[in-house]
Amino acid sequence: MKTPYLVFMLLISTQIIPAQAENNTVTTLLQTYASLGATEASAAQGKQLWRKVFLSNSEYSERSCASCHTEDLNAPGKHIKTGKSIKPMASSVNPERLSDKKKVEKWFKRNCKWTMGRECTAQEKASFLLYINN
Ligand code: HEC
Repeated sequence: MKTPYLVFMLLISTQIIPAQAENNTVTTLLQTYASLGATEASAAQGKQLWRKVFLSNSEYSERSCASCHTEDLNAPGKHIKTGKSIKPMASSVNPERLSDKKKVEKWFKRNCKWTMGRECTAQEKASFLLYINN
């Protein structure tokens, strides 16, 4: 009786702990963004913003999040400047995604500036998170 119980507990712990860590990061970030005024964020808005073209008169014209990450969150992307491949964004395919608060904030800052010419608002970031976290 003891061995199957142990195996069961091992399965539970290896499967649930990473999922919880991932959720905690997203939940914490969403709470922060909500406190900064992101009251109407949604996955639908995130999807729309992801594909929206900003800065169309720049050197790399037609800048959007999809320029590097593609429109398919489950697929790998490709950096439009360096050509380097980028792992899929969806946390369902790539569990490392959205698991580190600092990393998410760092890349939001950098990528929003590059794509939109400004930092994202709390509402935009919350919508991106809701969209990517599928
Ligand atoms: C010029 C290319 C490029 C564009 C455009 C771009 N990204 Fe990224 N993004 C990257 C790279 C490179 C990384 C870091 C490598 C990695 O995590 O695979 C990254 C990482 C991220 C991450 C970190 C996710 C995590 O937890 O691992 C988020 C969130 C993100 N991007 C969101 C966005 C959003 C939102 C936009 C549009 C406003 C955007 N990106 C546009 C290249 C880009």
